[in-house]
Amino acid sequence: MKRDGATFSLWQENTPDYVPQNRFEPENVYDILIVGAGITGITTALQLQKAGKKCIIAEAHNPGFGTTGGTTAHLNTLLDATYDQIESDFGKENAKLVAQATHAAIQLVADNVQTYNIDCGFSYKDAYLFSQEAKETKELEKIVEASQRAGIEVEYSDTIPIPDTFDKAARFPRNAQFHPIKYILALAAEFEKLGGVLRTNCLVQEFEKDDYFIVNTTLGQIRAHKIVYATHLPPGVNVYSFKCAPYRSYVMAFQLAEGHYPEALVYDMKDPYHYHRTQEVDGKPYLIVGGFDHKTGHEEHTQKSFRELEAYIRSIYKVHSIDYKWSSQYFEPIDGLPYIGEMTGGKDIYVATGFSGNGMTLGTVSAIVLSELLTKGESVYEKVFSASRIKPMASFTNFVKEQVDVVSQFFGKRFRAEKLEELADLAPGDAAVVTFEGEKMALYKDDIGNLHAVDPVCPHAKCFVGWNDAEKSWDCPCHGSRFDVDGNILTGPARHPLQKIDVELLFVEEAEK
Ligand code: FES
Repeated sequence: MKRDGATFSLWQENTPDYVPQNRFEPENVYDILIVGAGITGITTALQLQKAGKKCIIAEAHNPGFGTTGGTTAHLNTLLDATYDQIESDFGKENAKLVAQATHAAIQLVADNVQTYNIDCGFSYKDAYLFSQEAKETKELEKIVEASQRAGIEVEYSDTIPIPDTFDKAARFPRNAQFHPIKYILALAAEFEKLGGVLRTNCLVQEFEKDDYFIVNTTLGQIRAHKIVYATHLPPGVNVYSFKCAPYRSYVMAFQLAEGHYPEALVYDMKDPYHYHRTQEVDGKPYLIVGGFDHKTGHEEHTQKSFRELEAYIRSIYKVHSIDYKWSSQYFEPIDGLPYIGEMTGGKDIYVATGFSGNGMTLGTVSAIVLSELLTKGESVYEKVFSASRIKPMASFTNFVKEQVDVVSQFFGKRFRAEKLEELADLAPGDAAVVTFEGEKMALYKDDIGNLHAVDPVCPHAKCFVGWNDAEKSWDCPCHGSRFDVDGNILTGPARHPLQKIDVELLFVEEAEK
């Protein structure tokens, strides 16, 4: 299965691309166009189709190409935004609603697995959160108390299921895990059985609206009354570009030398935190451990993140073999909760974004909320997750920080020193942004010495992209668009590729002077 980078995830490797079955009828006006075939898009589409809506999914690549294929697939009642933070920023009643939504999401996944008899290794697991120093312990106690007030089942534990030191630990029963790609591909098949249409390699571009939306795509036009963007940030420049910040996380799946795989979801309290869990795939157990997150485009030598992760893993476990390593992208919302609902300034256009590191849970929450909004016109969760809510003041510092990052990319990195000499220095597999005849170019030399050159100015809002050496991609630090070495879009919100430059032609012209 193709994915949004050069590394291979445990879920995508050895999984063939999904082949849609149902024919697209260009003259149809669909009730709802869902953009994106990750867990959010596919679950939403299935919920809507089941409720009698006529839906079409447009996916720029293949189902599971992006974060659903790169997730570690934890289904959690505890979230990255802790319940004490949610209580203080949104109030106690809303903290209860968020807790209720996480339970509903885990239940929906469990129900789907049972109803459709999906062989995706779904199982309920305890989740453990543990502290290693006094400051973290104080924080842990606050989290536990607020979680209990919100209605989350949690108790202190005398043990943790991994061989690490700890000061205090809490156990959250009935969290869950699964194989995310097997799950979403099964849901996609059920969606099609109900008459839904799924179009792959179909990049959605601009649209017009009259009686309905006429949406341009790379495969022609799609007509629909409503649009759901299940693409993380909705494409184009909009308010969500400034409400969410892109991050990358690093993961390895490995086998232990002496067995004893932890049968739980485990998290420490570092910033960024490390996460651990076990999943059996094709009869083999894998321990999955991740962390070392950073803002997208802020770390060029991403292989270093893998080296740090491996050193961390080896400091805790006796490793037999490291079988997979990959990285993935997620978006942090400025106030801690996702934005789910009708877009600010976009009538009949819906969005679900800002899931932090809880994409499987909150993607499923999004499907619940969006399907209720689009079928009943209301949802008990619509206010707390409102896509047009005003951010609580408590998060103002975060907002300023993200904004400064965006601005500095516009005005800071545009005026870098000339780097033409780096052109000659590129080794196979290396990349650099250089200046050639006054024009900046992003250059990559592949393993057989061919140069791939693109304009490094991101078409989304004109920031400069930076190199990601582990995934062999050009990543934009402003809003997280990512492009392959030839400029093709891997991740939005950019709607258009980086402009490709014909390097050979440039060299010929240079030689003729
Ligand atoms: Fe917004 Fe690149 S993603 S400028």
